[in-house]
Amino acid sequence: MTLHLPSGPALALGAASASYQIEGATAEDGRGVSIWDTFSLVPGATKDGKDGSVACDSYHRYQDDVDLVADLGADLYRFSVAWPRIIPTGVGSVEERGLAYYDRLVDALLARGVTPTGTFYHWDLPQALEDKGGWLDRDTAYAFADYAMVVHERLGDRVKVWATHNEPWCAAYLGYAAAVHAPGRREGGEAHRAAHHLLLGHGLAAERLHAAGSQDVGIVLNLAPIWPEPGLPPEAADGIDAIRNRVWLGPLVDGAYDAGLLRVAPVLADPELVREGDLDLIRGSADWMGVNYYTPVRPGPVEPTPAGDVRHPETDAYPGAEPVTFVVREPRTDIGWEVDAYGLEELLLETYKRTGLPLMVTENGAAYADDVVADVPGVGRCVQDEDRRAYLEDHIAATERARQAGADIRGYIVWTLLDNFEWAEGYTKYFGIVHVDPQTQERTPKASYRWLQERLRG
Ligand code: FCB
Repeated sequence: MTLHLPSGPALALGAASASYQIEGATAEDGRGVSIWDTFSLVPGATKDGKDGSVACDSYHRYQDDVDLVADLGADLYRFSVAWPRIIPTGVGSVEERGLAYYDRLVDALLARGVTPTGTFYHWDLPQALEDKGGWLDRDTAYAFADYAMVVHERLGDRVKVWATHNEPWCAAYLGYAAAVHAPGRREGGEAHRAAHHLLLGHGLAAERLHAAGSQDVGIVLNLAPIWPEPGLPPEAADGIDAIRNRVWLGPLVDGAYDAGLLRVAPVLADPELVREGDLDLIRGSADWMGVNYYTPVRPGPVEPTPAGDVRHPETDAYPGAEPVTFVVREPRTDIGWEVDAYGLEELLLETYKRTGLPLMVTENGAAYADDVVADVPGVGRCVQDEDRRAYLEDHIAATERARQAGADIRGYIVWTLLDNFEWAEGYTKYFGIVHVDPQTQERTPKASYRWLQERLRG
């Protein structure tokens, strides 16, 4: 039984953000260095060579963000806490000024009637921990649980709904196998160790949070519907599904890594890695689950490669799985992701069937170029993002359909409030319902924001 997840008759709506993508002020008030500060400096790591050192300057302008969320009429605001602001070197001494920032943010949200929901880890690992092995090292899981408890002790009286991790698939496989996210390592199948340690960190934190009285501890996963293309051998599709979806759901629901997963990730059978008690700790540890969805995954057969070359770069993020190509059909958003709202409906129904847990769509949204700007009477000049509005409308409808079909879905949270630092894409892809001028930091709601506001006003 969760206590504080939205439970009204209507789907709760909100907007999301993540610390490194919006805060800036990376060298202020004692904040330590994160792996994204380091990684962004590597030539070629981000498309425009930029980093999050300024971003949307939300560290100073959080009140503007809160006003935008409140004026939208949103029920929820999903934010993440930057670990290096709280414990600059990952373990040990706590930075009071970092905690004070989130105090101010949370109080500002509550003062305007918006429910804050927090995420402890949205990818900004303290660099000092990466220097000791990062998520490949078991100690990082224990450090994570300690950090989560520090945050919860301070904010838990006001923030009741927490997620431990955001998209651990990205943290493990984009970070430690495909090298497109921080820390930018290419460790192949070793990345499965990172996956296990992320799950262990979740389990350790959940156990202690529950002991401290929290009943709304979740985890946010970017699960995906896997739709194989004709001609793909079944085991190739199974390998993708195993590493994208089952590596998380197996331990969380059954307390086990399944045989199909162990076929592609044999290291997960190593008793030195998966120690006695780990899986018992993880099983049943989530009170709710967040689903982030943007696009379906369509693995297809690989084109013939020169003799001997069995590696396919698109499969780097799925170490151990048979090589595939990922087919992307039309229509696509500006980041090249296929638009298919039915994928969300199917995913929610399947995830509910599999887990039985209350769900929230913790992220969904679309990148578009935002090149249509018009003067709107009574509003002024703003981006006319009809494409984004349609995407949101269709995906909210898909969420409602899954709900009517019986899935226990409590909320839908748009990614994202502000145009921001889009990881490896730098500042070249815009997901915001609010435009941000990179020079002046002026925030201007787009047509999609106005549409959502009308909808929320009923
Ligand atoms: C998700 C991330 C989020 C954002 C969106 C577009 O994978 O959780 O921070 O970058 O994609």
